[in-house]
Order: sequence, then C-alpha cells, then structure tokens
Amino acid sequence: MGKIVITGASGQYGRVATQGLIAQGRAGDLILMSRSPEKLADMAALGCAVRYGDYDQPASMVAAMAGANKLLLISGTRVGARVAQHQAAVDAAVAAGVGHVVYTSFIGIDDPANPAEVRHDHIETERLIRASGLAFTFLRDAHYADAMILMAGPGVMASGQWISNAGLGREAMVWRDDCAACAVAVLAGEGHEGRTYNITGPQLQDFAEVTALMAELTGVPLEYVAVDDDAQYAMFDAMGIPRRPVDDQYVGAIPWNSDDMVTFGAAIRGGFLAICSDDVARLLGRPARSVGELIADNVDLLRGAAA
Ligand SMILES: NC(=O)c1ccc[n+]([C@@H]2O[C@H](COP(=O)([O-])OP(=O)(O)OC[C@H]3O[C@@H](n4cnc5c(N)ncnc54)[C@H](OP(=O)(O)O)[C@@H]3O)[C@@H](O)[C@H]2O)c1
Repeated sequence: MGKIVITGASGQYGRVATQGLIAQGRAGDLILMSRSPEKLADMAALGCAVRYGDYDQPASMVAAMAGANKLLLISGTRVGARVAQHQAAVDAAVAAGVGHVVYTSFIGIDDPANPAEVRHDHIETERLIRASGLAFTFLRDAHYADAMILMAGPGVMASGQWISNAGLGREAMVWRDDCAACAVAVLAGEGHEGRTYNITGPQLQDFAEVTALMAELTGVPLEYVAVDDDAQYAMFDAMGIPRRPVDDQYVGAIPWNSDDMVTFGAAIRGGFLAICSDDVARLLGRPARSVGELIADNVDLLRGAAA
C-alpha cells in the first residue's frame, strides 16, 4: 500500500482527496504538506501526518516527502509561475525516493494554439514529470463547475446577467469533488501508471445554456451577455481584480487574476476546452455529476444572492 504525500492538502481539492482516502482507512498512510500545518490540525487528529512544506522552499519539500511512495501533486495557485514550483516538488519527490506522482493537470493543453494562460504551466509540468523518470498519472481536469456556479453564480444572480467572453464555446464543467474522487481512485488503485485521464463533466454546454438552466432551476430571470476580451478585462479591472497573479489574494471572493480568466474565456470561445470524456465514470464506477445537479443542490444559496 505505502505512504501517500499530498501537496495543497489544506485547499478545497486537497481536503476532499484526503477525506476520501481517510474513508478508505488510509489516514495512517497520509502525509499532508502545507505552509501552515496548523490549518490541518483536524486531519492530524484523524491520524494523518502533517508536515511543513513550501513550493518556494525546495529543501522543505524533501523533508516533507520523506518516506512517501506516492505523491499527489495538486498544482499551485500562482498561474504563470508554477513551473519552477512544480519542478522543485518533482525534484524533491525524486530525492525523497517517491515512486509515482499523480498530477492535477488541465484539459485541452496539447494544442499550442490554445490561448489559456494556464496551458503553459500544465504542459510544461507534464513534460518535466515525464523527464523525471518517475511513474506518473496525469489527471487533466476540466473547468470546475463549482468555480462558476458557487463563486461566480451569486454575482450573476444579483445582477441578472452572466457576462463572459466565452461566447458560445462549449465545455464539460466538472465537480471539483469528482476530480478529487478520481485522484483517490488512482492513488488507492492499481495500473494507472503512464495514463492520462480527461476528468470532465457528463456533457458539453455553453454558458448561455448554463445561464438558462440556472434561471429555470432558481426561478429567477437571467440573461447571458457575450462580450469581447477588452470588455471582460474592463469588468474585472472595475472589480479591482489584478491582471497578474498574487498569492493567496481574494478580490470579491474571486481568487484568480484577470489574465488567467480572460484567456480562459478565449480558450472556451475558441473550442479548445470542448472535451467530454467518460474517464470519471470509468474511474469511479458512476457517472460524473452535472452542472444541473450542482445548481439544484445550491438553489437556496443562489436565490439568496438574487434577493
Ligand atoms: N480546473 C479548474 O477550473 C480549476 C479552478 C481552480 C483551481 N484549479 C486548480 O486546482 C488546484 C486546487 O484548487 P483548490 O481549489 O484546492 O485551491 P485552494 O483551495 O486555493 O488551495 C490551494 C492550495 O495550494 C497550496 N499552496 C499555495 N501556494 C503554495 C506554496 N507556495 N507552497 C505549498 N503549497 C502552496 C495551499 O497550501 P497552504 O496554504 O496550506 O500552504 C492550498 O492548500 C489549484 O491550485 C489550481 O491549480 C483548477
């Protein structure tokens, strides 16, 4: 079975993955890495080891990963600056004797014309992991449905408008919890070395369709407004969102920078993220959950934002 070290363990994805492994009786096999170990006191109380580690302090990661057989490398949050951080994490894994790295990558990154800024970080990280000689599994996650419905959704409900530069491009948004469940299935299972999975929701939809679904399920009239990249930048600028990434910064409940979000919208508009796979169903033995189910589960929260 062996030990599993998880980076980003205190984050939303990391917590769900950790809980999934604990539910399989693996608490004693888990090493959770954080810059602030006190954030994971609840997991330590359940029997997990919690160790200090920082992507920007390579030596700290060698110590954090000591004794681990597998690494769940949850990508860092500083878009555009993650390759060096991930390289340091992979170097630490090699130095610590880790055998297999499972990495949270992103869909649609093979096409160099894909304008999404996140593409560079992920394709380069996949490349450096292959070059490391470690066994690997790449989980290419689609756009998190939670990011749009739970974080952007309340603003849409309050204004009555879903404004986006994604046009009528389609994507198969996926529940973050399903992504984390797939990581658990890979880490606890066998035979995933050398595999790349597209972790997507069950259907392709554009934001006009998602807006209509949200209006139908909440009973609140909403309109979808397609804008160009300049207008999308202007909207984020007016909200005070930085163009470039800043660690650990939230503006209006949004933790991302606008270069990331605007190029992301352009990637959707251009069809670069229009990938729908049944890898989630194959890994979990049940279908991926839908955007409609996420809206239905959060109707009260969304209606509350409208009021
Ligand atoms: N597919 C999508 O649509 C989508 C959307 C959003 C995010 N993502 C990706 O998914 C990942 C996980 O998302 P999430 O929601 O779990 O993020 P989150 O809740 O913001 O958590 C981020 C995690 O990154 C860790 N971290 C940040 N900087 C670090 C550093 N310098 N050294 C070590 N750890 C560091 C934090 O750990 P400590 O603070 O405890 O050190 C925290 O646990 C993100 O990082 C991002 O790459 C994908």
